[in-house]
Amino acid sequence: MNIYKATEENIRKAAGIIKSGGLVAFPTETVYGLGANGLNPEAVAKIFEAKQRPTFNPLILHIRSFDQLNLIANSDDLIVEKLIKKFWPGPLTLVLKKKEIVPEIVTAGNLTVAVRMPANETAQKLIDYSGVPIAAPSANAFGFLSPTTARHVANQLGEKVEMILDGGNTEVGIESTIIEISDEGIFLLRPGGLPVEEIEKLTGKLNIKTGDAKPNSPGQLPFHYSPKIPLRFFDEVTEEEIRGKKKAALFFREPENEKEYVLIKCLSPEGKLRQAAANLFAYLYELEASGAEIILAEKPPSEGLGIAILDRLQRASKRY
Ligand code: TXA
Ligand code: MG
Repeated sequence: MNIYKATEENIRKAAGIIKSGGLVAFPTETVYGLGANGLNPEAVAKIFEAKQRPTFNPLILHIRSFDQLNLIANSDDLIVEKLIKKFWPGPLTLVLKKKEIVPEIVTAGNLTVAVRMPANETAQKLIDYSGVPIAAPSANAFGFLSPTTARHVANQLGEKVEMILDGGNTEVGIESTIIEISDEGIFLLRPGGLPVEEIEKLTGKLNIKTGDAKPNSPGQLPFHYSPKIPLRFFDEVTEEEIRGKKKAALFFREPENEKEYVLIKCLSPEGKLRQAAANLFAYLYELEASGAEIILAEKPPSEGLGIAILDRLQRASKRY
């Protein structure tokens, strides 16, 4: 069994796992999180692998200090300062402009990053001892309920996580409230553990932008990032679609016909899905900026993380 009481010693052990690129489940005041080093793309890829998600969702980075906040996000905004002062540490997640250092797989290609400073002592120590922001979604398997005990985590994720820190029942029991602060305004993305009314005392009425607020334009939602040029699969593209166009290519493993492309990227020369997932969004950015007019992509094997990679590429291919 991989459940360990959240003692000082075990939290230090867990921090060692995070530092070496492994996965640790840990309590927060809201729900248990499945954590990895948020600055290490391959460690973050393991999160998606363990959750068996068919898609990539952007993840929340859990931090402990304002230095860490400034490392990963742009927070110099009066309202952001006020919200932080009033509600952190606590069940409020802020979506802010991301900084370069945040790997693309954490934000699923978004230019924003979700950040939260948890109030739970075990979570705080784990971040302190790891010395890095910890990327963590709720520690449930895809399609299952969010876990509020270490046992829930063990039942859903079993041995896929190296260590589960047991800090008893979580106090809040539902996920954090998420708001996005951008030049366009302040938006509620997910109601959660911090009542909206509390937030509105500081911000005034929030605009609503939850998952289904714009059902007809998923491409417009920030978490449905796609490249700005068309993407087609090698085995589906027609002559007509590529005639006379500058092309870039995204291979899974080995490139072919190298001369035809202005830029070629290989998701994983070693054929490893974890590495491929870690590279996906960063490579899409490079291909989009290559001067090509169309990206041709090879389909990854449709298993494990390959399913999420394929899903993302399929969304991109339907965009234009
Ligand atoms: O209470 C919580 O927030 C828990 C604990 C572990 O901290 N975490 C959690 O994470 O609920 P998760 O991954 O299950 O849900 C995070 C939500 C997702 O729906 C994701 O789409 C959204 O946050 N999100 C993350 N980054 C985003 C971004 N840059 N823009 C918009 N939405 C974002
Ligand atoms: Mg979740």
